[in-house]
Amino acid sequence: MDATQGKAESAAHGSQAIYYDDSAALYADPKIRLHYPPELYERVYAFAGPAAETALDVACGTGQCAAQLAKRYKQVWAVDANGEQLKQCKPQPNITFKTGCAEKIDLPSSSLDLVTVATALHWFDVPAFYKEARRVLKPGGALAAWCYYFPQIKHHEEANDIFQGFRERITGSRITDVRSYTESKYKGLEPRPEEFGVVERDEIPFVQESTIWHLVQFVRTGGMYTKMRRENPEKPDPLPDLQRELMASLKTSDEYTPLKLQCDIFMILCKDPKPL
Ligand SMILES: C[S@@+](CC[C@H](N)C(=O)[O-])C[C@H]1O[C@@H](n2cnc3c(N)ncnc32)[C@H](O)[C@@H]1O
Repeated sequence: MDATQGKAESAAHGSQAIYYDDSAALYADPKIRLHYPPELYERVYAFAGPAAETALDVACGTGQCAAQLAKRYKQVWAVDANGEQLKQCKPQPNITFKTGCAEKIDLPSSSLDLVTVATALHWFDVPAFYKEARRVLKPGGALAAWCYYFPQIKHHEEANDIFQGFRERITGSRITDVRSYTESKYKGLEPRPEEFGVVERDEIPFVQESTIWHLVQFVRTGGMYTKMRRENPEKPDPLPDLQRELMASLKTSDEYTPLKLQCDIFMILCKDPKPL
């Protein structure tokens, strides 16, 4: 991937991926974005079964899921519509990173044992993606799509109220589709029987160790925050105030005061033994 392609590629794919341009370097920091726990991959592999030749991570972001898949699958492809995110991916001999969109996957039909989507399904044209996923999967190959709840600050009710209140202000009174899908555990995004015959759901409790500063940067890397900033360029950045309020609530002058974040993960697992 040519590093100069960046923003042009995102725009060319014309998707919601444009909201991930600005913060790609921060996004790659495992202490800022959630790094999925081993139990999640174990659950996906148990569902997918023993075939471990080929896998694809769609909307791979900065490549954390692809790096995990590469430990099990001989060949991994990882695509994202946003070239800025892809520039942060670490090259590995058995991973091919490329720009591409979920709705039109540049791989042959019936070629993959597993397709994964981590924290991105809610941005897609979902029926078009399911059609493509089904096309590129081998008969019986698995699709796993997961996401996590917006983090809740544990053990500090007041700080959590401040943080959840901030989220309300970012999304405004208008609850976006993205937010309603993630809050309802992807209700309404499940495949229809004609798209995938076997559909399971699961949830994995997860707690992320963080700090006030890392939590504020987490917000900075979010698509909703970027969207809000671009729609209101005249308004000042609200994040310094959020950080100050959280520090005051926790009675600390240290922005690296530790926090525990509850970010439980929910997933949709699907497959179909029949060829299309
Ligand atoms: C919240 S990030 C998740 C990144 C990564 N999967 C992870 O879990 O760290 C969402 C990603 O979806 C990508 N994206 C959004 N719409 C897309 C589409 N239609 N096709 C491909 N990528 C898309 C964005 O560019 C962004 O990298």
